[in-house]
Amino acid sequence: MAQRPYIVGNWKMHGTRSMLSEARAIDRAAERLIKAEVALAPPFTLIHATRKEAGLIAVGAQDCHPADGGAHTGDISAAMLKDAGASFVIVGHSERRADHGETDADVKAKAEAALGVGLSVIVCVGETEAQRDAGQAEEVVAAQLEGSLPRGEHAPEKTTVAYEPVWAIGTGRTPTVEDVGAMHRAIRARLEQIYGEAGKQVRILYGGSVKPDNAAELLAADEVGGALVGGASLTAESFLGIIVAAAERGEA
Ligand code: 13P
Repeated sequence: MAQRPYIVGNWKMHGTRSMLSEARAIDRAAERLIKAEVALAPPFTLIHATRKEAGLIAVGAQDCHPADGGAHTGDISAAMLKDAGASFVIVGHSERRADHGETDADVKAKAEAALGVGLSVIVCVGETEAQRDAGQAEEVVAAQLEGSLPRGEHAPEKTTVAYEPVWAIGTGRTPTVEDVGAMHRAIRARLEQIYGEAGKQVRILYGGSVKPDNAAELLAADEVGGALVGGASLTAESFLGIIVAAAERGEA
């Protein structure tokens, strides 16, 4: 693995200030585990406090609005996230695509807005179980990449892709290591088509039921540059189990 494994916790709609102690514990441990790069995406309400509590890890958001500002009640712009202390934002998570009807074009617009204010982005893609069963997984993911990835001069350097099969999220089920490797190779090929040479450096994370006991195996699959972790990122204990597994694979 050329780069340090990137392990990102997505807290989803979990967490009040009482959970900041978990963020602090993760941050302290990350100081020792320098062979992995660690990040947390708490809910909007905790971004600023997490940034203050956790000075070493990256802190990010789970969504942003594509506009700079304006009459969008309840929405948060990329510039606001940056102001709150975020350095990255996750866009296109399947829960947002499903719950809020976000299209690939929406995801791309959000990603480009985030890049525009200097944030990095994690663009999520992944097939449903029905699509996998129909043999369409790679085709679906390819179309999502084509439609969702931000374009522009510096886009590849600031973009990470997260492959999260919808059927593996929160279910305790994961694809086989071979299937993960095959999909990640297909994503790499598509990234090179879209971004050219620069597509070789884009990190590709795997997400979906990553736990301390399966992390080493999943992280060893071809082209897996890290993990996007939901449930197992909610306590320092389980998240650190994953980070330790990743650090053991990291080079330096
Ligand atoms: P789980 O790790 O809970 O399956 O969630 C994965 C995910 O959706 C991370 O973004």
